[in-house]
Amino acid sequence: MGRVAIVTGGTRGIGEAICKRLQRQGHTVIANYAGNDEKAAAFTEATGIPARKWDVGDHEACLAGCAAVEAEFGPVDIVVNNAGITRDGTLHKMSFEDWNEVLRINLGGCFNMAKATFPGMRERGWGRIVNIGSINGQAGQYGQVNYAAAKSGIHGFTKALAQEGAKFGVTVNAIAPGYIDTDMVAAVPAPVLEKIVAKIPVGRLGMAEEIARGVAFLTSENGGFMTGSTMSINGGQHMY
Ligand code: CAA
Repeated sequence: MGRVAIVTGGTRGIGEAICKRLQRQGHTVIANYAGNDEKAAAFTEATGIPARKWDVGDHEACLAGCAAVEAEFGPVDIVVNNAGITRDGTLHKMSFEDWNEVLRINLGGCFNMAKATFPGMRERGWGRIVNIGSINGQAGQYGQVNYAAAKSGIHGFTKALAQEGAKFGVTVNAIAPGYIDTDMVAAVPAPVLEKIVAKIPVGRLGMAEEIARGVAFLTSENGGFMTGSTMSINGGQHMY
């Protein structure tokens, strides 16, 4: 059955792969994005998937953005909280702004999107929320106190909201990707990234599509008994 799905940060990287996969599953997909208009236009041109711009870290913008999507496409039954940024740096060099922006967008975005969509799912008795966490929220990462805290927070948020949604047919799960071949990972200095890849047992970066396949399962009817869990897709880098 086709449903309405929003994927945040949906026009690039892992989000783009998730949008395309959900579209192939027969859903009406809307990609949210915050910055790159040119890339969003190219994405819509190539896929036919509409892109809508708002900052998921801005509570009011998020409520308004989701309301506009519902007015245009109908009730939102599937939300994939994928939008995220990095502002890496060791703590002694990290500014308060770099700490706050990562928490505001990566973790705050999950709260804001859930506030906008979870009540409707609860009332209708069906919903799927998938939050994209990270291996670095599970294991920590040198130079990422902000990102690791936000991603670790996503895992706690997931387990708490899953308990609230369970009796209403709303599942809430997380996926913890390892290092995936995206612009975000490409921004890691090459010598640092080489050392990281050397520690991945399967010997390579992951592909965005490998995360999208996990989302496809969690958002399907078949995923109905799985809630509050974290699916680790990391090439064996962290066995948790
Ligand atoms: N463990 C221990 N020490 C480390 C270390 C590590 N993992 N990495 C670096 N260091 C040490 C270095 O050896 C160096 O020590 P010395 O001065 O004694 O030689 C010291 O820390 C300084 O290192 P840098 O020169 O690298 O410091 P920098 O300030 O230039 O950069 C950094 C620091 C920005 C954190 C950089 O190391 C970096 O970018 N690291 C990668 C962080 C990372 O993995 N980010 C993931 C982004 S992708 C993502 O987040 C997606 C996802 O979900 C997986």
